[in-house]
Amino acid sequence: METIYFDNNATTRVDPRVLEAMLPFFKASYGNPSSMHHKGGEVGSALRQARLSLAALLGCEPHEIVYTSCGTESDNTALWSALRTQPDKRHVVTSKVEHSAIINNATFLAKQGYRVTEIGVDRLGRLDMDQLKAALTPDTAIVSLLWANNETGVLFPILEVGELCRERGVVFHTDAVQAVGKIPVDLGNSKIDMLSLSGHKLEAPKGIGALYVRHGLRFAPFMIGGHQENGRRGGTENVPYIVGLGAAADLALRRLPEENGRVRAMRDRLEAGLLEIPSTMVNGDREFRLPNTTNISFEYVEGESILFHLSHAGICASSGSACTSGSLEPSHVLRAMGVPFTAAHGSIRLSLSVNNTDSEVDRALEIFPAVIKKLRDLSPFWKDGAPALGNALLTCDDGGCQICS
Ligand SMILES: Cc1ncc(COP(=O)(O)O)c(C=O)c1O
Repeated sequence: METIYFDNNATTRVDPRVLEAMLPFFKASYGNPSSMHHKGGEVGSALRQARLSLAALLGCEPHEIVYTSCGTESDNTALWSALRTQPDKRHVVTSKVEHSAIINNATFLAKQGYRVTEIGVDRLGRLDMDQLKAALTPDTAIVSLLWANNETGVLFPILEVGELCRERGVVFHTDAVQAVGKIPVDLGNSKIDMLSLSGHKLEAPKGIGALYVRHGLRFAPFMIGGHQENGRRGGTENVPYIVGLGAAADLALRRLPEENGRVRAMRDRLEAGLLEIPSTMVNGDREFRLPNTTNISFEYVEGESILFHLSHAGICASSGSACTSGSLEPSHVLRAMGVPFTAAHGSIRLSLSVNNTDSEVDRALEIFPAVIKKLRDLSPFWKDGAPALGNALLTCDDGGCQICS
């Protein structure tokens, strides 16, 4: 059975060309880039080249990039830096649908006495701009918002938010871990102050990330140590992985048209085919969305059960819900969007990449209807091919959900 990998927002495979570019730095090119001798020099020039490649993908200057170990470290660094450089400001603004790298940080900061505002979204997952405008005060140290939502792919109006924050004199960070490599990014023509990315979302390995820090922005390092990264992150550089990220950035830049053409077309065909299954809906704004992602709810079935059966048939996908080990808590993203309980629990995320093919989409469209039918035949909420409403629980829709509350 061949694997159909539709879980590229979770992680991507390492492109063979990326691996190839990395290998010399595990072998002959083992020098420390800080060393004065020729072994250090050859590695130093590879790092400079990799930085140029990533800067080209981001539309920024090479010196504006700080390498980190992952997207989570980049997010932590951005928040930390904004709060350390403006110790008199005690307010942090983010949204209700962020990745845990930001949400859990915000919770931690609230416990430390910071005021945290989480901006809401509408039914389609779109940011409430009026709420954001009203939330900014002279005490606001940083606004941190996702560029692309990891569960739904919905895009926030990041360029507009950047303009707003600059007008109000507030530092603006975007978690663009899901956006970089999938949509064009041109930081030089934006008012974004900091941007997080992660290598393993764009066919570089896990364990390498970067933070863009706009030239001139006051910055406090999160990792205090040596003079690496111009004193902005101590620690000997992870040379092979930085080189790998550079190679991945070259590839991603070349593949942007394919991502927004062929990948988008495959995602749309897959989505349209799945919507033919009864009581099925897409979660999130279908217009302003990543080209590779769809979050689909199959009402009256459990997302986890769908994933189990799909995996059995060779399809890798993710649950749109945060259900872990039997917890019935639906995803915080879908809850913030007000997705009905019966739909939130049956949601899954399919995220494609340039490595997927049309014949994989064809095969998935054969497998899905059978899986959903099998599960619905077992569901007490589904009878004779339709929802058995007489049986329904009091759900989030009705208010006072019996399961969530
Ligand atoms: C939006 C977003 N931010 C941050 C992260 C964390 O990235 P990393 O796994 O590199 O720490 C992820 C990973 O899934 C993500 O999707």
